[in-house]
Amino acid sequence: MKHETIEKNVMLLGVLTAVAISFGGLVEIVPLMNDKSVNTPSPGLHMRTALETAGRDVYIHEGCYNCHSQMIRSLAEEVLRYGPASQAGESVWDHPFQWGSKRTGPDLARVGGHYSDEWHRIHLNNPRDVVPESNMPGYPWLAKEQFEPGEVPAMMRALKRVGVPYDDADIAKADADVAGKSKMDALIAFLQSLKLPKPEAAPAAAAAEQTKTAGGAP
Ligand code: HEC
Repeated sequence: MKHETIEKNVMLLGVLTAVAISFGGLVEIVPLMNDKSVNTPSPGLHMRTALETAGRDVYIHEGCYNCHSQMIRSLAEEVLRYGPASQAGESVWDHPFQWGSKRTGPDLARVGGHYSDEWHRIHLNNPRDVVPESNMPGYPWLAKEQFEPGEVPAMMRALKRVGVPYDDADIAKADADVAGKSKMDALIAFLQSLKLPKPEAAPAAAAAEQTKTAGGAP
């Protein structure tokens, strides 16, 4: 059949396009359904503290993902710049995941520990104070805002419902953990937590948690 015949027949073109897309979908999606590594937490995956969880909420709320990805692709130049490529198991406790697709700013998947808390404070207040050519907006108000009582426990309960293994005891003391902390403190704690999981540093308790989720996660 000539390609021209297909192009001139809308119905046929539609049907064949659907077949091509479905085939692509099957090839990409079906193997992942049987691949445990994509829904099993990476060894040593860090369990976020209440403050870090609250900071993640600020990150989403302020739309940082519009300019920053958290997904290092396996291309040589990415790995050289940012570190080892991101693995699916690093994001299993991220709902919604923060991979992003837009990089006006650099990838943040491994930014934890690269700068001091003080650097982040100055940078978030007014990026131009530390990076003169930066076009990132400042977020000075975050230093003045705090969380309402009950707000952070609610975030943790919601995440727990979708499979993040927070301890009830941690949820119960979440309000106390974030008391007196600003939204900027929380955001900085979250940024500092973005690191490559360290399997050898995983305490026995965290390992036990991981086996628990690996069995129960969808
Ligand atoms: C309009 C786009 C834009 C938005 C929105 C944005 N950033 Fe940025 N960000 C940038 C750019 C560009 C840079 C690189 C220049 C600089 O360091 O300021 C950057 C740099 C950074 C860095 C330093 C990264 C590194 O490896 O040097 C951090 C951390 C950061 N941003 C965090 C955030 C957080 C947190 C938010 C949300 C509160 C945010 N950004 C929102 C554009 C943006």
